[in-house]
Amino acid sequence: MPKVSMTVNGKPVSGEVEGRTLLVQFLRETLGLTGTHVGCDTSQCGACTVHVGGKSVKSCTTFALDCDGAEVATIEGMANADGSLGTIQQAFQDHHGLQCGFCTPGMVMSAAALLKENPKPTEAEVRHYLEGNICRCTGYHNIVKAILAASGQDISAIAAE
Ligand code: FES
Repeated sequence: MPKVSMTVNGKPVSGEVEGRTLLVQFLRETLGLTGTHVGCDTSQCGACTVHVGGKSVKSCTTFALDCDGAEVATIEGMANADGSLGTIQQAFQDHHGLQCGFCTPGMVMSAAALLKENPKPTEAEVRHYLEGNICRCTGYHNIVKAILAASGQDISAIAAE
């Protein structure tokens, strides 16, 4: 079987994969990084969102072999070095940006990609950017508030849900 090597959350990793092995399978099953979730398996829901080369991608429709040599980041890499919650994770907790939590890893990864591209997004820009991430609890309002708070903006004018 072909071997794939990549950097995941700053650590070099490698493993044997089949040509059809998806990045999410490699992350979850080979590396044991189960924070990345599989919802739809068809690139619709965003639960599997990770970063490859600094861009958010849906790992359920990305081949592991296509990430050979790439820098990959997952939700496990979003915490601080001491294990405490990272800024976006803390904002989700502080602003009740999760209900069942299934979509949360993908939401946090998309939020991180957005804030890297656009450090001070408007509410509309956050909502637009999250179009590829579905929350089945439909708790979008607090997710948007959490992301705006994580960007350091005053969210006091945003209506409570
Ligand atoms: Fe990948 Fe839904 S599991 S987009």
